[in-house]
Amino acid sequence: MIKNIAVLASGSGSNAENIACYFEANEQVKVKLIISNKENAYVLERAQRLGINSVVLPKSAWSSGEDVLAILQENEIDFIVLAGFLLRIPDLILHTYPNKIINIHPSLLPKYGGKGMYGDKVHEAVVANKETTSGITIHYIDGKYDEGQIIKQVSCAVLPTDTPEVVAGKVHALEYKYYPQVIEEILEKRD
Ligand code: GAR
Repeated sequence: MIKNIAVLASGSGSNAENIACYFEANEQVKVKLIISNKENAYVLERAQRLGINSVVLPKSAWSSGEDVLAILQENEIDFIVLAGFLLRIPDLILHTYPNKIINIHPSLLPKYGGKGMYGDKVHEAVVANKETTSGITIHYIDGKYDEGQIIKQVSCAVLPTDTPEVVAGKVHALEYKYYPQVIEEILEKRD
């Protein structure tokens, strides 16, 4: 049976595009929908270029989640992937999609997680604190920021000379390599 994924992204969407490309030739898994909360997010241009349906749901829609759920159900979405999505997922969606929503965070959680810790802010803090490693965490979503059961963590070295941009590059490379693989592994195990 085909599994339909929705990717949620608030910004650039390079992970969303990478995931969509990874599954392009897959007959069982389809990136059916890209959802953003920002109408000027670059991910929407990527979606258009990739020929993937996209929808913008403003911040107000994410408190009750009813409109979000309606869109997910209209599109027969089975699995939800957060890729740089910065709003909290409403309880209604969490209850409707138990163990079917995952997130990627650009650090080794629990380090550098929580509200306000996203994207470049994470890499800046890692460098400011002279960390010698950073990495990625892929985890299920449980309603709190950057918590929930960890599925996979992969680390990379941070050198004393690394700038936040360099660390971001290393972390993005890990994200591109591992996030689609983890999604595929989870969906393969489910019927
Ligand atoms: C990614 O590095 C992702 O791990 C991070 O935002 C970036 C989005 O990049 N997510 C978080 O910080 C979530 N707390 P992208 O829009 O180019 O995929």
